[in-house]
Amino acid sequence: MSTRRPILAANWKMHKTTGEALAFVEKFAPLVAEAGEVDIVLAPPFTALDRVGRAIGGSRVALAAQNVNPAEQGAYTGEISSAMLVDVGCSYTIVGHSERRALYGETDAFIAAKAASLLSAGIRPIVCVGETLEEREAGRLEEVVGGQLAGSLAEVGSDRVDDLVVAYEPVWAIGTGRTATPEMAQQVHAFIRARLCDRFGDGGRGIRIQYGGSVKPDNIAELMAQPDIDGGLVGGAGLDPESFARIVLFHARES
Ligand code: PGA
Repeated sequence: MSTRRPILAANWKMHKTTGEALAFVEKFAPLVAEAGEVDIVLAPPFTALDRVGRAIGGSRVALAAQNVNPAEQGAYTGEISSAMLVDVGCSYTIVGHSERRALYGETDAFIAAKAASLLSAGIRPIVCVGETLEEREAGRLEEVVGGQLAGSLAEVGSDRVDDLVVAYEPVWAIGTGRTATPEMAQQVHAFIRARLCDRFGDGGRGIRIQYGGSVKPDNIAELMAQPDIDGGLVGGAGLDPESFARIVLFHARES
């Protein structure tokens, strides 16, 4: 178990209308009111950010967006800026999720610009990296994950490491029910930690690294027991208030 403050985030992806999102919060908030030393984050779709932000306002649950455009403002139809996310109360934002890299062709340079824009607006980026099964089997894990890290964090200054969260999500474990074993995950987290320390010096030791990919109430504890796993980025199991509360609370009991 690490000494870094654990961070459990639910990434709702393209799920939940505002009504469904508010129903989740109503059930979830009381379940985690007594959680210990842990950061709890909900990442609803853009359309529910404002309402969810209001519903969790003043509670210990933080709000995240799932994406951002790095430009300040302008002719970018369909896009949302960091200032707009600040406006609705986001304190975190996910960038570089594998679905965005794969489905929308996002490059490391674009992700780096997003992270920089968020940091200058006062929002903490959750920067995702992870290899496909094909890349892992070809022995390219370190090249791929190392390359994504270097590229996506290119614009983060050493003075901002406290505001940075990294998520390791092996693509083959996302939504497949196939979790990396805690040992497999730890191996990659240790590699990421080493790269973060190369890049940021001692500050790299304080950066929280979440694991993502089929995190469930019954596997979170063994994942969190690993020295370099500091949290979870949860998709499917984060859609249900009781299941996400069990993920948050199980850890809180352990800490
Ligand atoms: P999953 O998704 O928990 O459904 O595997 C994780 C993610 O994509 O963040």
